[in-house]
Amino acid sequence: MNNFSYQNTTEIHFGQGQIAAIANSIPKDKKILVTYGGGSIKGNGVYDQVVAALSEHNWDEFSGIEPNPQYDTLMKAVERIRAEGFDYLLAVGGGSVVDGTKFIAAAVSYQGEEEWDILAKQGKIESALPLGCIMTLPATGSETNIGAVVTRGKEKLAFMHPSVRPQFAVLDPQTTLSLSERQTSNGVVDAFIHVMEQYLTYPANAKIQDRFAEGILLTLVEEGPKLMTDLQDIEARTNVMWAATQALSGLIGVGVPQDWATHMIGHELTGNFGVDHGRSLTIILPAIMQVCRAEKKAKLLQYGERVWNITEGSDDARIDAIITRTKQFFIDMNTPVSLSEIDLTQADIDTAMASLEAHGMTKLGENGSIDLERSRQIYQTAL
Ligand code: NZQ
Ligand code: ZN
Repeated sequence: MNNFSYQNTTEIHFGQGQIAAIANSIPKDKKILVTYGGGSIKGNGVYDQVVAALSEHNWDEFSGIEPNPQYDTLMKAVERIRAEGFDYLLAVGGGSVVDGTKFIAAAVSYQGEEEWDILAKQGKIESALPLGCIMTLPATGSETNIGAVVTRGKEKLAFMHPSVRPQFAVLDPQTTLSLSERQTSNGVVDAFIHVMEQYLTYPANAKIQDRFAEGILLTLVEEGPKLMTDLQDIEARTNVMWAATQALSGLIGVGVPQDWATHMIGHELTGNFGVDHGRSLTIILPAIMQVCRAEKKAKLLQYGERVWNITEGSDDARIDAIITRTKQFFIDMNTPVSLSEIDLTQADIDTAMASLEAHGMTKLGENGSIDLERSRQIYQTAL
């Protein structure tokens, strides 16, 4: 296990009715900007609960943050905050709203040339506005982590900074009952693959991290498909919500090698062709398992045994079975496992490759061994 320093300071209010807790989590002297997306929070009662909870606070709102939050939209919020002097942000919605709000928090006092540089040049963040969130879509883990992904045209870029970690996160599974089947499945597979990015590498004698990771995977495998038959299963919703948070809170990733190639290669599908984030991942992960089967062999076999109970046959036969089983899980979650299923072709691989190269993604994976040639092989295998 590698050395690590770890802290996660986000206060979590989990469970039914916990939106009311924000009344005490945000100091009364703050001027709050509540940020949200396209209006789902107005249809499912979340907005009304926020209004009730903030009855003694000074606040206003900024809506219209898109899925895959757009830089230009976020900059409108930044300008408004500068003009009107808000000093606390409350993000209410899915990962896009939370990520977008993290960017807004960092951009308000950014001293560099252009705020986009926070993403494009990893520009130095001196400080950020404090923020809290009410997460309504279990998927990204953004509610307790320090990362954010922002899109500008076809560019989809990420930044990380401790100052944008939410001070608190409300996780009320009731708020997730209004998610469509597609949003639900996207969330489950995104969380599943977050775990895989921190787990499916090479052994590091990190037994706690491995067992926690396998526990999250098993939970998602058990609970995810239940939601595909009953979107109103609140017990499954509850476990999926906590699993998604833990998948990317940082805890299972301490002291271990990490991969993230599935995300990087998948991002080009979202940037170029608008593929949903979760669905880009279910297409790419099985192909990475195939192309990187030699270097990931030990962890593939461990994953197969502990998550899928695959213990018989030669190593190669087991790895084949593990890839098939993983794909079947994605199929059970109604997500695609090939590019052709979503009508992408050979020509589209060339387009994705060009942007992968333009983004400097030439040494991906836990060993830096996924160069452009292997990325092409991965897209090709996924075709
Ligand atoms: O905009 P509204 O009206 O709120 O509707 C949203 C949106 O249309 C809707 N939704 C959210 N909660 C709902 C709901 N609809 C009904 N009921 C609810 N309770 O769902 C749609 C999609 O929302 P979005 O926030 O885009 O989805 P998700 O949470 O999957 O976030 C995706 C974004 O997160 C980034 C992705 O790249 C993508 O930009 N990621 C962020 C990460 C992080 N910060 O650590 C890691 C991830 O790997 C990921 O890259
Ligand atoms: Zn993800």
